[in-house]
Amino acid sequence: MDWPELRAAVAACRACELCQTRSQTVFGVGHARAHWMVVGEAPGEQEDRQGEPFVGAAGQLLDRMLAALQLSRAAGGDADADADPSRRVYIANTLKCRPPRNRNPSAEELRACEPFLVRQIELLRPRIILAMGRFAVQALLRSDEPVGKLRGRVHRYQGVPLVVTYHPAYLLRSLTDKAKAWEDLCLAAEVAASAGPAGDRSAGRSEERSERGGGA
Ligand code: URA
Repeated sequence: MDWPELRAAVAACRACELCQTRSQTVFGVGHARAHWMVVGEAPGEQEDRQGEPFVGAAGQLLDRMLAALQLSRAAGGDADADADPSRRVYIANTLKCRPPRNRNPSAEELRACEPFLVRQIELLRPRIILAMGRFAVQALLRSDEPVGKLRGRVHRYQGVPLVVTYHPAYLLRSLTDKAKAWEDLCLAAEVAASAGPAGDRSAGRSEERSERGGGA
């Protein structure tokens, strides 16, 4: 599936019961050649209404953090044809539909939705993935370890370097961990700057490379 086919498949998806309560699917946003990919959890109320990930308060914090590194989610239309992909971020969630009342995603929902995220990553071939929060970590690293244990080093997903950090909704409540999240973004920026183009990344899923000392 190419990008338009994938978007259409997501919009038509009825693989789990979330299709009954969603207003619309939330596919993802950003430049199709962005070097960065951010993976969050699931759409909330605002996202369900607007059809775009991370548009509520957590998303505004995320945008501010990305802007501090001169990164943007702008998709790059005609007027933006020369957008530098190294400054662009593609944002997606593990779930494309909002769980009612923002409850946690179920294992079954995560399983049903996973192929969409896998294909987004294949199409984008980012140079760095930033996994935000425990559900992104579970989906991509198959790990139940706490974010605090996994952050601070570089993991791999299908050969793509992956950095774990706190979910921005959590950071809105926990000021003390904001500094750690900033360290994680700086680590991701370092990795993105040194990573070559995707293509010859043959390492297996979740292979871990210790570039920096252990987690928090
Ligand atoms: N939280 C997420 O994980 N994703 C969104 O799109 C919004 C809030």
